[in-house]
Amino acid sequence: MIRHETIDAAVKELFNGIQFTSEPSGLYDPLRYMIAIGGKRLRPKLCLTTYSLYKDEIGPDILEPAAGLEVFHSFTLIHDDIMDRSPLRRGVDTVWKKWNADTAILSGDVMCIDSYSRIAKAPKESVSEVLSLFSKTAAQVCEGQQFDMEFESRDDVRMDEYMNMIGLKTGVLIACAAKMGALIAGAPANECDKLYEYGYNLGLAFQVADDFLDVFGDEKVFGKPIGGDIVNSKKSWLTIRAFEKAEGGAKADLEKAMVMPVETEEQKNDKISMVRGLYQELGVGKDAQKTILDLNFKALMAASEVCKGVRFEVLRRFADNLIGRTK
Ligand code: IPE
Ligand code: IPE
Ligand code: MG
Ligand code: MG
Ligand code: MG
Repeated sequence: MIRHETIDAAVKELFNGIQFTSEPSGLYDPLRYMIAIGGKRLRPKLCLTTYSLYKDEIGPDILEPAAGLEVFHSFTLIHDDIMDRSPLRRGVDTVWKKWNADTAILSGDVMCIDSYSRIAKAPKESVSEVLSLFSKTAAQVCEGQQFDMEFESRDDVRMDEYMNMIGLKTGVLIACAAKMGALIAGAPANECDKLYEYGYNLGLAFQVADDFLDVFGDEKVFGKPIGGDIVNSKKSWLTIRAFEKAEGGAKADLEKAMVMPVETEEQKNDKISMVRGLYQELGVGKDAQKTILDLNFKALMAASEVCKGVRFEVLRRFADNLIGRTK
């Protein structure tokens, strides 16, 4: 087993020392910027954590694939910020805002390719399975992002459709990270699959928390603009739940609030406070918190089927750290 402090230190060192091609700087600078501004590094940490269930030392076989997961994730964020018209990420300007959308598209593309070359450095015993897992995951993330966009213009999105969408855009990459660590460590197939299920449910909980923080978070801590989902008519967990609960006057208010104009800053702020107020009245923030706990529990149930004792505690600790997150 490897201590979590050792994992955190290894991830820090990995990204401090990471190298990318330098020229043309117009292509690679945004990439370096995105990696340098950090983030929680959740996916490489999870990958190293599941690897640590089977290994006593962090070998070179796992570090490049773990870095690849983070580079891929960061690439999806660069493109997501164009699609969501978001000006702020990790507390600083987004790539499209700092440079422009064309640069953000191309730097994102080269990051995606970079991530593949790192994942392909998995040891030969597992590289084929690792690459097919990763390719399937990468396509699923695109599918999730497409559903997310399509939902913006629909007002009949059901909770099961929403859960499927977040499973694709967010759940599968976290699941992939959990499974990849175990695969590279040579874990038995059934254990790899249970760890995938663990990661998937953690990922769902993670996205519901993201939706919650988008409305109720603190911008300085969260590092992203509060109310972005409301302004963009995103169907977040809170929106879907609010429509499930609202009746009579509250429902009419909610319908009216959803179509409020967002052309000026003042109109945006009005819409955000109106929708937030209705969410508060309906108590959907509390419902979201409960769902996060339920999904976390589901993740741990899957983990408990293959990991006992100290190994289970490692996974429990990782999951618990995500509960009540503020960033
Ligand atoms: C943001 O991911 C996108 C979602 C899946 C909600 P993170 O919250 O992991 O972002 P960083 O990497 O820490 O900035
Ligand atoms: C993120 O969903 C999903 C992916 C980047 C694939 P969001 O659009 O909610 O993520 P944030 O809030 O911008 O980080
Ligand atoms: Mg998005
Ligand atoms: Mg976004
Ligand atoms: Mg979000």
